[in-house]
Amino acid sequence: MLDARVSPALVLGIESSCDETGVALVQSTPGQAVPQLLAHALFSQIEMHQAYGGVVPELASRDHIRRVLPLTREVLQQAGKALSEVDVVAFTRGPGLAGALLVGSGVACALGAALGKPVLGVHHLEGHLLSPFLSADPPQFPFVALLVSGGHTQLMQVDGVGRYTLLGETIDDAAGEAFDKSAKLLGLPYPGGPGLSKLATQGDAQAFKLPRPLLHSGNLDFSFAGLKTAVLTQSQKLGADLQARKADLAASTQAAIVEVLVKKSMLALTQTGAKRLVVAGGVGANRELRAQLDAQCAKLGVRVHYPEMHLCTDNGAMIALAAAMRLQAGVQSASLDYSFEVKPRWPLAQIGV
Ligand code: KG4
Ligand code: ZN
Repeated sequence: MLDARVSPALVLGIESSCDETGVALVQSTPGQAVPQLLAHALFSQIEMHQAYGGVVPELASRDHIRRVLPLTREVLQQAGKALSEVDVVAFTRGPGLAGALLVGSGVACALGAALGKPVLGVHHLEGHLLSPFLSADPPQFPFVALLVSGGHTQLMQVDGVGRYTLLGETIDDAAGEAFDKSAKLLGLPYPGGPGLSKLATQGDAQAFKLPRPLLHSGNLDFSFAGLKTAVLTQSQKLGADLQARKADLAASTQAAIVEVLVKKSMLALTQTGAKRLVVAGGVGANRELRAQLDAQCAKLGVRVHYPEMHLCTDNGAMIALAAAMRLQAGVQSASLDYSFEVKPRWPLAQIGV
């Protein structure tokens, strides 16, 4: 018997899919709808990768190795728990950088084997998607989810834990990538999203007319690659004036990305008739996006739910939470088979229940 049904459970979650090592402990209790976050700790490698203008996969893997066990000790201490009390060890199985995923998966499975406790591999995007359940105002199923991270831009119909239907997605760059690549063209450090949105607050969003790709396509797909090219062309045209007009170009870029995300989200809501929207992933931290979604959803009578600001970008809490919710909903069992396989490419709609 390799499967283990575990309830109630103290779940240790390890996230290592990209450039953040995150570890967290959540406790799920029967009768309680949402598992409780006991502790979480994070180490961001951003500073290390900034020198290269983007994530260097080999450096990321090596740094995950250095951070994961100290962070694990830290969360156990914060929560006042012993390692032996952990019931399940969860980890990000994919999608992400293969080497980085191997570190978290390897450590999680080694810990599970050493403790004789079951392990459970989680989809990174499911972690993002469920992360608003840790907020003070958790959503209820069903809802439409706008998943906007550095690598993904998707609209999903979510009917329950593990019940995800893809409504539309980007056909090229992700929204986070559009922020990051445009920011790079403006000379801002990696990752560019936070810096570009900060600069945008000092600029005029109407200053430059930038494309809104697929805005009127009638479907729920996105395309952001052309926007980056338009920002490049505009910055070349500005030449020596770029420095003085940087804030205007940042504001115009953000306005283009946000308008497409908001309009497509509204279309998804009217098409599905959903009364709730959940926004998740790093770009979900963008204040302009939040303000416009709030305003438009209020008009439609739709409630919007976001993760806490500090849980928008990658973290271990969302991985421990997703594992605990999958166990609680009975859609997945933890496993006593410690062999593992990472999935660098893994469509969320294919994880099933
Ligand atoms: O979800 P996440 O941490 O990592 C992935 O799973 O990809 O998302 C990272 C992305 C980066 O592209 C980053 O620039 C973007 O989220 N981001 C933002 C903001 N904060 C993070 N983009 C726009 N505005 C922000 N405030
Ligand atoms: Zn992520």
